[in-house]
Amino acid sequence: MSETVIIDGRAAAEEVREAVRDDVPAFVARHGRPPGLVGVQVGDDPASEIYQRRKAEAAEAAGIASRRIVLPADTTQQQLDALIDELNDDDAVDGVLVQLPVPDQLSEPAIAGRIHPDKDVDGFSAGNLGRLVRGEPGSVPCTPRGVMHLLDRAEVPLEGANVVVVGRSLIVGKPLALLLTARSATVTVAHSRTRDLPGLCRGADVLVAAVGRPEMVRGEWIKRGAAVIDVGINRTDAGLVGDVAGDEAQGVAGWLTPVPGGVGPMTIAFLLANTLEAASRRLVS
Ligand code: GUN
Repeated sequence: MSETVIIDGRAAAEEVREAVRDDVPAFVARHGRPPGLVGVQVGDDPASEIYQRRKAEAAEAAGIASRRIVLPADTTQQQLDALIDELNDDDAVDGVLVQLPVPDQLSEPAIAGRIHPDKDVDGFSAGNLGRLVRGEPGSVPCTPRGVMHLLDRAEVPLEGANVVVVGRSLIVGKPLALLLTARSATVTVAHSRTRDLPGLCRGADVLVAAVGRPEMVRGEWIKRGAAVIDVGINRTDAGLVGDVAGDEAQGVAGWLTPVPGGVGPMTIAFLLANTLEAASRRLVS
């Protein structure tokens, strides 16, 4: 059995967070205030509560002024729109994010369309996704940005590589495919209707699993020496597991991101980077 390099997402995320923290004082010196981030949560979903609190704590630790707004679960689209408009107009606010998922009466596309693209630090708006397609500066969704960072930090070759991204979500699969394509990888986006998914995965030099199905990707789907990036965070009776059967991937994969401690920590780290960058872009333009 050959060695599998375990990619340390916690260490990588800490480096990114430190870099943001190191850059904030120059921003404050120049603009007279810290970058400002507002996280909006609708309802009291326990997972959203944890994520939102972690994001706020990480922002504060980096020197970013952070505010959390928790709205009742029965908030209407009109009420949420009014809040977003207010935050769009608030000059001290550089980044606005609405934690997903939202209750059924609210529309995710309406939210993504309402947040000003220059303040959309999640990068989910049509404006930012359009910038990404066009290769123009803008906010890139945090998790795909984190995946790219981990691949680069581990020096995984991308140019000309066959990459299979399993999952076509707006948050991960689609933007990640664009980022990898921009790096001259040959990208296939697979999903629930893909024929012979195991066979397709076996051809991948880089295999990304982002479907939200516990341990769906098995060891025998993995080409020897491939980089395997597990974006899944699934809560099961056995605890937190990824979309990849990690034990089976060990010794087959060349690189592997663990769950937890792989891609997960990158999302918050790049939310901080996106906030500082969005603030800098806003204030110079
Ligand atoms: N829910 C799951 N991931 C995310 C994310 O990156 N941003 C927001 N706003 N909600 C999420």
